[in-house]
Amino acid sequence: MQTQVHKQLNPTLRAPFKSYQPTSGEEFWDVVVRETAEAKRKLYADPCFKSLCDGTMPLNQYKEWLKETYHFTRNTPRFLSAAGSQVEDDKQFVRTRFFQHAVEENGHHLMALKDLRNLGVDEESVKKTYPCAGTTAIVSMHYYLAHYTNPIGIFGAVFCFEGLAFDLCDQWAKNLKAHHGLSNNCLTFIISHGHFDIEHIKEAKEVINHEVITETDRRDIIYTANKMYDYYRLTFEEIGQLKD
Ligand SMILES: [Fe+2]
Ligand SMILES: [Fe+2]
Repeated sequence: MQTQVHKQLNPTLRAPFKSYQPTSGEEFWDVVVRETAEAKRKLYADPCFKSLCDGTMPLNQYKEWLKETYHFTRNTPRFLSAAGSQVEDDKQFVRTRFFQHAVEENGHHLMALKDLRNLGVDEESVKKTYPCAGTTAIVSMHYYLAHYTNPIGIFGAVFCFEGLAFDLCDQWAKNLKAHHGLSNNCLTFIISHGHFDIEHIKEAKEVINHEVITETDRRDIIYTANKMYDYYRLTFEEIGQLKD
């Protein structure tokens, strides 16, 4: 009876079980790309996101994006460490990857603060702010996966964010510079992530293709990647509402 009520309330529970097993000639990475294409397309269609891509994003919105990035990245080494601490003993390689990634991301929030400082924003006032709803959802879901459900699902978030940085950081830096005449010391976060994330995407691919073998892990990764695109779109929707 209870199941029937849930079925009525949540249409996703009515969906038939879908296997995400790669077909022959495919790797699981390819499945994740395919199964998240629609959520990614919606993010890319957001007008505020587009303005970051073509460099026309107003400076007050760029500052807000840096503020949200600060809130996200100050949590990154913490939730990656938490995820590593919760990984089962038979997944040593994945546990090591979480810890290494946590160290590699440690301190990146300082780059966002530095860029804000160089744009004339008081960094102490930024530290006193709260993140917007989209960023809160992104950060909260990482901790939730790490502590309560499945830390391996976080590779869906790594897929999303490292992928975006790998694909777009060079373009964002070049176009913001061209449109606003910004110097490199206002673009430290974006410029450096164009380089860092070349390695991170390679390492994420290795885990996703070779270490993810259970159906539950596959489903959790795809679910998380889709949610991250949705929540990040919400962050941009909120930033886009800021007027000059
Ligand atoms: Fe980073
Ligand atoms: Fe990264």
